[in-house]
Order: sequence, then C-alpha cells, then structure tokens
Amino acid sequence: MSTTGTRSTIIRLLSHMRDGKEVRDYLNRFSRLDQSRFAVVKVGGAVIRDDLDGLAAALAFLQTVGLSPIIVHGGGPQLDAALDEAAIRSERIDGLRVTPAEAIPVIRKALSAANIAIVDAIRESGGRAASIPTGVFGARLLDEAIYGRVGEPAEVNLDLVEAAVRGGEIPVLACLGETGDGRLVNINADHAVAALVKTLQPYKIIFLTETGGLLDDKGEVISTLNLASDRDRLMSAGWITGGMRVKIDQIQALLDDLPLTSSVSITSPEGLSQELFTHAGAGTLIRRGEKLLTETDKAAVDWPRLEQLIAASFGRKPVADFWTSLDFDRLFVTENYRAGAVISRLDGIAYLDKFAVLEEARGEGLARAVWQAMIDYAPYLYWRSKSSNPVNSFYFQECDGSVKAGPWTVFWKGENDLSRIPGMVRKIAALPETLERSG
Ligand code: ARG
Repeated sequence: MSTTGTRSTIIRLLSHMRDGKEVRDYLNRFSRLDQSRFAVVKVGGAVIRDDLDGLAAALAFLQTVGLSPIIVHGGGPQLDAALDEAAIRSERIDGLRVTPAEAIPVIRKALSAANIAIVDAIRESGGRAASIPTGVFGARLLDEAIYGRVGEPAEVNLDLVEAAVRGGEIPVLACLGETGDGRLVNINADHAVAALVKTLQPYKIIFLTETGGLLDDKGEVISTLNLASDRDRLMSAGWITGGMRVKIDQIQALLDDLPLTSSVSITSPEGLSQELFTHAGAGTLIRRGEKLLTETDKAAVDWPRLEQLIAASFGRKPVADFWTSLDFDRLFVTENYRAGAVISRLDGIAYLDKFAVLEEARGEGLARAVWQAMIDYAPYLYWRSKSSNPVNSFYFQECDGSVKAGPWTVFWKGENDLSRIPGMVRKIAALPETLERSG
C-alpha cells in the first residue's frame, strides 16, 4: 500500500517530464534550503474531503526526495457538517466564521479529526508526519462582540514545527489559536498562513485546491502571474470575480513580505510534483515580479549595480574601461537589476553588448521580458558569445543566423541586407574582450 502510493506519484512525475535535468536542478535548488523554509502548503477542506489519498501521496513523495513542506489546513466543509450536527448556527461576517463559545469544542474536535486524517493518510502513503493541531499560533480575539471566539494570530511559535522537521516528519498544522489567557480560538486559515509565512520566510507558498490554479475567462488555468506587470490589467478585467480579487490581494500581501525569489503556486495535489520540478509547472505561479526599466541616459544607469549583475551572471567582471569606453545606446533592466541587456552601437547598428541574468532569477520569466523589450526596440540586431556559453541554445533559437569566428559565435537577427553580414561578423569577432579573465 505505502509504496504503491509513492511509486504511482513517481510514475506520474516521470511521465510528465521531458528533461531529467530540469527536475534535478529544481530538486537541488529546493534541497539547498533550510527545510523549514522550503514551503508552506495550504490545504483547503474540500481537498481533504475529496482527494485525501492524492494529497497524501503528493506530500509523501516530496518527503521521499528529501523535502519537508509545512502543511496548514482548513476545514470549511468539515466544520459546517460538525456544527450542523451539533445544531449550532454558523454564519459568516466578512468571510470569517462567527464562532460562539459553545462552538469551540465542536470545532476543536472536527479540526483535530481532519488533522489526524491527513497525518494518517501520509503515513499510509509511506511518509512520516506529525500532528500539530494547537501550540503554534498565539492569538488575540478579533472582536468578541461581533465574531465570538475568532482570533487573529499575534505570535507564531515554531518550536513544534521545527522539532517535527528535525525529526524527519512533515508538520501538519490546524488553524486553532490560543489567547494569552489560554482560551482556544478559531483562526481563519488564510490569516494563519499569512502569519506563518511572515515568520518563516519560505521559498514557496503553495495553495492546494481542487481547481488546481486561477482560472481565466475561458475557464483555463492561468500559468503565470507577474504582479508587477500583470496585476492592473487583470484586476480591471471585466470577468474577474470578487473572490479572485480578494485572493490576488492576499497573495500580493504575502509576497510583499518575502524575498523576490519566493513565489506562490496554486495547484492541485496531482499537479504538485510537476509544478515544483518543471519550468512549465502545472497550476498558477505568482511572483511579485519586477518592473522593466529602459535607460537611454548613460549617466542614469546604476553602473556599480550593473557591473555586479554582469560579474555574477558571467562569473567574471567587466574589464576596467568597459563602461567608460562603451558606445552606450540603452539598457533594458529589471528594477532590481536582476536581468538586463546592454545595447551599444556598432557602425550605427544595434549591438547587444551584454545580456545578463542572475542565477537566482532564472526561471522567473525576467530574461524573456528583457529580451522581448530589446527585440521590440531593436528588431535589427547583432551579438556574439563564446562557443561554450550555455545560453547559446537560446541564442540559436532566437537568431536568424550565426557563424563561428574563432572562440566566438556571432549572431544576427532581422538583417535584411545579407551583404553586410561578413563585414559585421569580422568586426564583431575582432572586438576586444569585455570581461576579465577568470581565475
Ligand atoms: N518549478 C518552478 C517553481 O515551482 C516553476 C513553476 C512554474 N509553474 C507555472 N505554473 N508556470 O517555482
């Protein structure tokens, strides 16, 4: 039983991947993180009800490959049913479940049951999990007169979570909090996730839902959302629902408190492995993103920062007079200088002098955005790269033609006067080195 679940997940993962290297690279990236900061995973009550085995298999699989996500679960449908049965009316105000004191024992029981169901299912899938129904969220009552025993997280205590991770167990947290005087309160799962995320600063925040992503007007999953560039357009679209707006605002707030490398994924239990271990993913990937800047004034460029970007991207610093001797045309760069393209002029023709992307920023779509802005501006363009440059496969795809010249490959795009190519190639191959020798 246990190995079947894990094995089927592995098979599912393998069947989706074209490139084993992609999977290994992501696995390495995630494994390098302190595991209590890898991922916070929020599981909705509907997933617990309808897809517990899929959920458990997906989580156990992550553990099999050495990753330790932290699970926070809600229990909407479970609580509705339990309160119904206890004949306690449960209404909602501002999306929060009004919680009379007599509902607390019922809620505690229902949430504990959901919590243990997840833990048991993970164990049955061959994983190791720790049940942590209480003891993490210190809470303050929101407004007892209106909401009853509903708390807002005031403090996050990671002791139990870290102990579980140290012991090789997936921590499974329910959204119950305790007030300073020891009273148990109901905490909205999104609020709990927000508090936990703020404290942990995880690399990934994952929402597991049945739909497996945010849906567009045609009911298709939106693959990526870059808040800096896409948010306004999306929020003003005629078809967007109120619920989706709230969700996007929540996610923006989560990401605003995190490093730029962190991201949110909305996916389903079945899609989780593919989402994490492939570039294309399965679900919706949401980043804070960066605005793209265009600098046409050389003096306005933050050269020390750009120099750092180039040095980090190539592993070598630009030569001492690179910047002063550059016949600068313009720079396309993300607002935090994590990806950029320096355009200069060669006999009046646009020449891509440097295309640099930080290692940590790869796979965020930034390089693509910089590239596109550059091509829109300079559809007619030359550049060169060392034959060993790993980016070459991308260049071969993008160029209209290329030719090897000594250690260089010279590329062009949009050239409509073929007779100009040989002269340009000769000139470009003869340009001096722009980067210092390594070592
Ligand atoms: N595997 C990467 C991640 O989890 C990229 C996922 C891309 N997903 C998407 N829906 N476009 O960060």
